[in-house]
Amino acid sequence: MTATDSTPAKKPVAILISGRGSNMMSLVEASRAPDYPAEIASVISNRPDAPGLAWARGQGIATVALDHTAFPSRAAFDAVLHNAIEACGAQFVACAGFMRLMTPGLVARWHNRMINIHPALLPSFKGLDTHARALAAGVRIAGCTVHIVRPEMDCGPILGQAAVPVLDGDTPGTLGRRILAAEHRLYPKVLSLFAAGAYDIDQEIARLKAASANLEMLFSPEA
Ligand code: GAR
Repeated sequence: MTATDSTPAKKPVAILISGRGSNMMSLVEASRAPDYPAEIASVISNRPDAPGLAWARGQGIATVALDHTAFPSRAAFDAVLHNAIEACGAQFVACAGFMRLMTPGLVARWHNRMINIHPALLPSFKGLDTHARALAAGVRIAGCTVHIVRPEMDCGPILGQAAVPVLDGDTPGTLGRRILAAEHRLYPKVLSLFAAGAYDIDQEIARLKAASANLEMLFSPEA
């Protein structure tokens, strides 16, 4: 996209996925708004058969499939992944269901420029099976978090969270569906603020610079 006098250029973002890609779709759809500050430069997957990759290709978005099983080491895969991200001109990286641990070296190369969405209210319930573990713990409020990526799994400065109430009779499936709907609302908002440079990061805490860039808290029983 070309910058005009009144519209700042959109920042190119690479999205990393491993599967379905519903969060990626929500970012792609949001990025089509003329005033959205980011554009999707490429969708990259470590699984060539990821359904989200086919969807992105069908949308005319550049895609890259890097089969991690074809690489001799995590570092070798991450070096090629880094090159693919750079080759598409991305300034930022948005992980959207990218289910692969990264080497500290790759994370360092994208320091404060790589974000992730996780289906829990971090720092609770890092890792897998978040909804089953939240239900087993008896929490009444669950949700999702967008954060800056650090080398430790599901760690890093929190950019935004959406709260989703746990309802009587919830199963991991029913709770997960409502949280996923909240993810689809939260991630585009956070990427928009992040790409627009709305955050200060100091001592591992992310703060919005201006009240005008407020990220409303989401709390919706229907979400
Ligand atoms: C999403 O729920 C996302 O939060 C989660 O994987 C799912 C991907 O779905 N990510 C993680 O658990 C990362 N720790 P999607 O492919 O439909 O976006």
